[in-house]
Amino acid sequence: MSEWDLKILCMGAGYVGGPTMAVIAKQCPKIRVVVGDISQKQIDGWNSDNLPIYEPGLLEVVKEARGRNLFFSTDLDKEIQEADIVFISVNTPTKTSGIGAGRAANIKNCELCARQIAKVAKSDKIVVEKSTVPVRTASAIQRILKSNENGNSFQVLSNPEFLAEGTAITDLMNPDRVLIGGQQTPEGLKAAETLASVYANWIPREQILTTNLWSSELSKLVANAFLAQRVSSINSISALCESTGADVSEISRAVGMDDRIGKRFLQSSVGFGGSCFQKDILNLVYLCETYGLQECADYWRGVINMNDFQKRRFSEKVVAAMFNTVTGKKISILGYAFKKDTGDVRETPSMFVVRDLLQEGAKLHIYDPQVSREDMWSEMSYTCGVNHDNTPRLDESVTTEDDVYKTCEGSHGVCILTEWDEFKTLDFKKIYDSMAKPAFFFDGRLICDHKALREIGFEVYAIGKPD
Ligand code: NAD
Ligand code: UGA
Repeated sequence: MSEWDLKILCMGAGYVGGPTMAVIAKQCPKIRVVVGDISQKQIDGWNSDNLPIYEPGLLEVVKEARGRNLFFSTDLDKEIQEADIVFISVNTPTKTSGIGAGRAANIKNCELCARQIAKVAKSDKIVVEKSTVPVRTASAIQRILKSNENGNSFQVLSNPEFLAEGTAITDLMNPDRVLIGGQQTPEGLKAAETLASVYANWIPREQILTTNLWSSELSKLVANAFLAQRVSSINSISALCESTGADVSEISRAVGMDDRIGKRFLQSSVGFGGSCFQKDILNLVYLCETYGLQECADYWRGVINMNDFQKRRFSEKVVAAMFNTVTGKKISILGYAFKKDTGDVRETPSMFVVRDLLQEGAKLHIYDPQVSREDMWSEMSYTCGVNHDNTPRLDESVTTEDDVYKTCEGSHGVCILTEWDEFKTLDFKKIYDSMAKPAFFFDGRLICDHKALREIGFEVYAIGKPD
């Protein structure tokens, strides 16, 4: 008799696999949870107190369960054999070449996991898609699993994750809902019930939804598309506000107080970033195109076009305000992460502004409380193609600082690009006094008191606000 009620393996120890499994382990001490990854560095990080990702409250949760019923390992073959349930929580980035390049999601990593499970499994298993995937991926996984030579049976479930970075632990502890899609057969329904009973250890049953596989896979893409659409909608209005004298914050408030519309996700900004919004909408666009629904594809593509416009508009505003040239000028960038309370820089809008200002010849000084210079460069190279090989004197043009006041010293302009709480309470008088004059201030997150800044002497430009 095993000492455990159930054994879970999660393949992929990233932003989703790590926190999700840590919370399952915390909430279910009788379940053995192993998080596996092909990256030794990633696993070493999870086994230390210097976790590979920054997420408020995560270290406490990991420390509570690690060594008790939560383990991190690179020995995937062994752990696949042990597990009753195998989650696949690997990255599914947008394809960069080949068919569907720039739109389709690359599910290569999911397929590799399925092949490895098929190859080494010696008992029946439930395989759970946690990664965000194109609709009908489960059928590909099911077919691959069939190649298992030991004649084991596998039930594939879809269980997409809805956590947001920066609030992952609270989202996982109190999710709006958990979604489980499965085959509508007795075996499929039984597998879905097994997974539901894991979540039912801390989540009310009525919040655990079960659907068919394809609805579950597609719901994930739709949820992200709707959220991003709200940000693009309010950002489109921010441009109109700047031209008309209306104030975007007043509009968000007035519109959001209608219960049918709701208050959340109406915060105008320099644009949305993160690893998923753009990727998942592109995935939806590609799916629509694949099924011959070009109008639907164009509709969703518009959400991304608006986001690109918003990021570009911000850079153009900076250049236009500073007498149409920033060449040789020092500009301070406050915030590089794609949102507060994370060190994640994937698709961060800050990077696009930095790229544009670099192309204009500005000298940039960047401060972010959680982002390392190394991460900044690797994302810049991956997403924007800007790197030390093709851009001479890159290191001379960008200085990263760990003191916010030093970052701003002597600068001609300051840009707020991530809404870190600490930026709200800075000593702006001290910053103003240390800057070149006129001192420009660009608020890309609408977190500062613009009236107070103007009284200090700043020339303030803010998204969606009259100048
Ligand atoms: P990530 O890049 O942080 O982590 C993925 C991990 O998978 C990496 O550590 C990588 O080494 C590992 N990996 C890749 N191939 C592997 C293999 N064959 N075997 C074992 N490990 C392997 O990615 P993430 O942000 O955690 O996202 C994972 C999935 O979840 C994506 O599909 C994403 O769209 C989705 N998602 C992400 C978030 C988020 O907030 N980041 C939220 C919801 C859903
Ligand atoms: C988002 C979704 O909120 C999660 O439900 C989903 O699980 C996740 O994507 C995913 O699939 O990866 P995340 O990207 O971590 O989560 O963060 P969000 O809070 O959604 O913010 C995304 C971007 O939109 C950020 O750049 C944020 O600053 C921006 N945003 C958000 C705005 O500009 N305005 C808003 O009102 C809200």
